[in-house]
Formats: sequence, structure tokens, C-alpha cells
Amino acid sequence: MKATVRAHPNLALVKYWGKRDDALILPHQSSLSMTLSPLSVRTTVAFGAGSADEVELNGYVAKGSERDRVLRVLDAVRAEAKDAKLGPAKMVSRGDFPASAGLASSAAGFAALAVAARAAAGLPADPRAASLLSRLGSGSACRSVQGGFCEWMRGERPDGMDSYAVQRFDEKHWPELRMVVAIVSRDEKEVKSRDGMKNAVETSPYYPAWVKDAEAEVVRAREFLAKKDLQALGEMCERNAWRMHATSLAADPPLCYLMPKTLELIHSLREQRKKGVPVWFTLDAGPNPCILTDAAHELAAEAAAMACGATEVVRCVPGGDAQLLGEHLF
Ligand code: DP6
Repeated sequence: MKATVRAHPNLALVKYWGKRDDALILPHQSSLSMTLSPLSVRTTVAFGAGSADEVELNGYVAKGSERDRVLRVLDAVRAEAKDAKLGPAKMVSRGDFPASAGLASSAAGFAALAVAARAAAGLPADPRAASLLSRLGSGSACRSVQGGFCEWMRGERPDGMDSYAVQRFDEKHWPELRMVVAIVSRDEKEVKSRDGMKNAVETSPYYPAWVKDAEAEVVRAREFLAKKDLQALGEMCERNAWRMHATSLAADPPLCYLMPKTLELIHSLREQRKKGVPVWFTLDAGPNPCILTDAAHELAAEAAAMACGATEVVRCVPGGDAQLLGEHLF
């Protein structure tokens, strides 16, 4: 009745930006990401413990919407394994990467929670079922159940049962690929992804164009990954990030996640490319650019980031699947 899982965060090369169903967390378009090692989150779940559900995230008792999102996943597992009469759950989750990494730990956290809760409930290991389940906590989490490069297929069904992520290539496919996360600001972002994307869906005149374009880019991203074409993938990453941000810049109220140092770094990558250094950026809903490059140029990418005022960089490689661990957190 107890299981512990470690999962890695992921970074979208083609972003998810906007829901067609807020309650079920169903996206308007498909997306594609790289799972990032060595960053990870560990989560232990036990059923039949105590008299009420207990949720602890990074040493704190979770409250409000954070707690509700976890309970949503646990309730779905209790419903699926109803014959087992699982009872209250205890869940403890810890990220082994600093908040300063600038990457949300929620994707890794919900992926680890989904895989651990299913295992603790005695349900069979099933990446598709775990992906569907983790999506209920946070959309991007469905791409962290498996390693390498995963595609979240938007699906068509109103119940969301065809909206989950599949692994297109595993982490051994392109081991030389690198993602260098550059921290230019540690300030808490003012508008969370969830609210930012809702604003774009509801008010941006560019939103329909974004959906159509991103869906087509996913197909191209798959081809570039298959061919290990770094330049084509890098150029696609940049234009997809720009287009996602453009939807929000054009929203009402307008939303700009970029800071002066973000732009400075983006421009300096262009200068690096003129010198033959293969570096391209992508940017989530925050100011910290992530630089796509290869193993031979990760130090050059790091140096370029530091020269533009980054306070820290985190060098990442393609990470593996969410995995069951023998040691528990409680
Ligand atoms: C910009 O998955 O955090 O990182 O589904 O509302 O929990 P919710 O949102 P979340 O949004 C991620 C947005 C993004 C792009 C991406 O990861 O695809």
C-alpha cells in the first residue's frame, strides 16, 4: 500500500498554451517536450494511513488549490481501485532541485504522484493510464511519466481519454543533446501559467493562429528529432516560443514574461550563432531562457548566459522514465 517514485521535469520544445476544457485539463493543441535529467522529484504515497488525507510538499503541509490538485489525482486512483477500499492517503513529495532552477517542479511532482499512487493502490504499471492521471493535476505533467521526448496528443474526445502523452524517442536516442537552463531572475512570476494561458485563450486575437501553427510544428519537431537535426529543431524551438509569447503579448490585459536580461540573452545567442556556435533559446511562462545545444557547446552556452547576467545555469541532458524506488520518504 506504499510506493515511491522519482520523476524528472520536462521542457516543452513545442509548448502547450491553452485549454479547451479547464476542468479536465484538455489542451487546444498537441505539444512535445524533452524530459530533463538530472533534476527530479521524489514522491511517496501510502493508502490506509491515518484518518484523513495528508499532503506534504517540500516540507510544508499543502493547502488550498495545491492540496485540491493532489486530492483530485488520489481520488481518481481510489475510484479506479474501488474494490481495494484504499482509505485515506499520505503523500510526501520532495524536489531535489532548487526553486532557483526556474523550472516548475509541478510537472515532475504530478507525474511521480500518479505513478506512485497507482503502484500503492496495486494497479498495474501503465504509462498511458499514469499520463492520463497526472494530467488531472497539471497538463504538462502528462509528458513527465516517460523519458526522452514525449508528445502530448491533444485528443478529440470530450471525456479526455485520448488526451495523454506518448514517448516518441527514448533518452538514448540523442544523448548529446543539451538544455542549459539560464537563471536571470528568481522573482516569483506574477501570472501563473494556468491564468496566463486562460487569458490568451479568451482575449488574444492571435490565439486561433497559435493553435493551428503549434499543431503543425509538433509533426515537424518529430521529424527533426528523428534526424537529430539540431539547427532545424533549434530554429523551431525559437519560433514556437516567440509565437506562444506573442499570443500573450496580444492578450487583454497584455502579458509579458520577458525581462531585459531575457532579451539580452536571446540577442546574444544570435551573435553566437553568427560565430558558428549552435545555440537556440526556448522560454516558458517566465523570464529564464533555456538554451538548446549539444554536448560540445554546453560550456559555450553557459558562458554566453553568464556574460548576459545569468546568476546560475543548470545543465540538463535527456532524462529517463518515472521510476519506482526501493526507499520511501516516510
Ligand atoms: C508554458 O502544465 O503548468 O510551461 O495545466 O494549468 O497546470 P496547468 O499548466 P502547466 O503549463 C505549462 C505551460 C508551459 C508550456 C509547456 O510546458 O508546454
